[in-house]
Amino acid sequence: MNLLIMGPPGAGKGTQAEELVKRLGITHISTGDMFRSAIKEGTEMGLKAKEYMDKGELVPDYVVVGMVKERLFQSDSVCGFLLDGFPRNVVQAEELDETLKSIGLSLNGVINIVVPREKLVERATGRRICRTCGASYHVSFKKPREEGICDNCGGELYQRSDDNETAVNNRLYIYEASTKPLIDYYTTRGLIRNIDGDQDIDKVMEDILKNICS
Ligand code: AP5
Ligand code: MG
Ligand code: ZN
Repeated sequence: MNLLIMGPPGAGKGTQAEELVKRLGITHISTGDMFRSAIKEGTEMGLKAKEYMDKGELVPDYVVVGMVKERLFQSDSVCGFLLDGFPRNVVQAEELDETLKSIGLSLNGVINIVVPREKLVERATGRRICRTCGASYHVSFKKPREEGICDNCGGELYQRSDDNETAVNNRLYIYEASTKPLIDYYTTRGLIRNIDGDQDIDKVMEDILKNICS
């Protein structure tokens, strides 16, 4: 199964993706996570991406598209993938269509997580991430058993540098202008699956599974 998960910043893409890939046995490809790994490793691409990410702006298309193509060509993608955070504009969506076609693959569905705007800032600014395994928590909605410590691996939890109010508002603005038009793009192609993301995390998962497996 080849899927894409989209939605505004803080909608719950990463939270749902983490569980969904385990249940379906497919590969999670998150462009945001890939950039954060590159930053941690101090690569040239990571340093360049950080300048854009900290301001809540999109990393240039040629950088993202090249990185995703390379990832899709790896053997584990053939058994199914879940793209999270890519594509983010029409140019990237067209590049994805062409790349998949060239390797004989196509998308089976696009999960669109819908959450009212007023909830998104609180979700993003309260998020905490594990420095070691990348698991995501929330100070109110998904608390770790012990404050500041990851349940999975005992790693230290930190706040993303783009999870402050200024950067989150800019990310929301860019989502409206560049990414939201993709809902029409994928509706036209009969792929969109709208999911109510304003429910408990487990209920959102249940709705996603019902929707894509029926
Ligand atoms: P990326 O990392 O993809 O960030 P994003 O799209 O802004 O989305 P988030 O990761 O913030 O939100 P999410 O939907 O995953 O929410 P989560 O599940 O964590 O991208 C970061 C940056 O990288 C971009 O700004 C850009 O600079 C660059 N980039 C990445 N891809 C790019 C591309 N294709 N092109 C160009 N640039 C690119 O949940 C959020 C919080 O809410 C968590 O704390 C969670 O615990 C909580 N939560 C989740 N679900 C619920 C629920 N149902 N109820 C209550 N709380 C919930
Ligand atoms: Mg995410
Ligand atoms: Zn961890």
